[in-house]
Amino acid sequence: MKRSVIAILILTAGVWKVAAQAPNRAAIAGSKEDEAAVERGGALFGAQCGACHGTSARGTATGPDLIRSVLVRDDEKGELIMPVLRDGRQEKGMPRPGLTEAQMGDVVAWLHTLIYGAANRGTYEFLDILVGDAAKGEQYFNGAGKCNTCHAPKGDLAGIGRKYDPPVLQSLWLNPRRTRGGASRAARTVTVTPASGASISGTLESLDEFNVALRDSSGAYHSLPILNNVPRVEIHDPLQPHFYLYRVLTDVDIHNVTAYLATLQ
Ligand code: HEC
Ligand code: HEC
Repeated sequence: MKRSVIAILILTAGVWKVAAQAPNRAAIAGSKEDEAAVERGGALFGAQCGACHGTSARGTATGPDLIRSVLVRDDEKGELIMPVLRDGRQEKGMPRPGLTEAQMGDVVAWLHTLIYGAANRGTYEFLDILVGDAAKGEQYFNGAGKCNTCHAPKGDLAGIGRKYDPPVLQSLWLNPRRTRGGASRAARTVTVTPASGASISGTLESLDEFNVALRDSSGAYHSLPILNNVPRVEIHDPLQPHFYLYRVLTDVDIHNVTAYLATLQ
């Protein structure tokens, strides 16, 4: 079953700090719920309710969105939610959850915190980043997106959903960093072909109107002046597909792929 992943962000000094599985402190403070109860409630919800209501309570085909639920929104101290949790709605497809009163209280606290966060979306813009459909994201990854031609979920991307929280994960694949790991897979390579003589290939060091500089596989540095398009300069950028994706992806694809990557634990 999917792990409950809640994107929780605390904005400190302009940096997004992320704590997995722990709701936003500001949302907890705002909703006036007990932090430990909220944490326990989130874990319980992920394990026992997420399959139907979605791990972020946004609903699935088998259970309604609880963030949009009037009943949940109007609840103040559990008086509306608790009866549903005690008895389920068996005739409507929700079995009796079988939680203790204390566990129900924890789930209520967690739901209150989510409602508060949703009502204050401007401050929690990433709260619902995991709204996508992971199965569709996987299809896209192996299909239209062609991600699998360069990446493997059990290879270079293994555990990426554990390493990064959703917002970081999303920006990482929408806009991957070039500088990772020195001579990284992301380095741009270049082939320079002079008017006569052999061409040289290597890692692109710099390129402007007047000059191209590269380092060949032996580590030697070459700098050549460019005049009237001579020498010919051909650049290969391994990140090109990513920059291209950025233009053609729909929001739905983006959410689905991020949701899929988040499952790579
Ligand atoms: C097997 C699927 C399933 C599971 C598991 C499940 N629910 Fe539900 N839940 C539903 C369905 C379906 C409804 C809608 C029932 C209806 O139409 O009245 C519902 C309704 C609700 C409602 C009322 C929403 C409203 O607006 O009336 C709440 C609150 C709720 N569920 C919370 C939970 C919590 C908390 C858990 C885990 C402890 C949970 N559910 C587990 C399927 C499920
Ligand atoms: C033609 C090859 C290619 C394709 C196609 C491609 N990528 Fe990448 N991707 C790269 C390279 C190169 C990097 C740079 C990081 C590296 O060296 O691993 C990268 C980086 C990433 C990262 C960051 C990895 C990290 O550990 O920092 C993610 C996540 C990612 N890609 C996901 C995707 C997804 C999802 C798709 C499809 C929608 C995709 N990529 C398509 C080549 C590709």
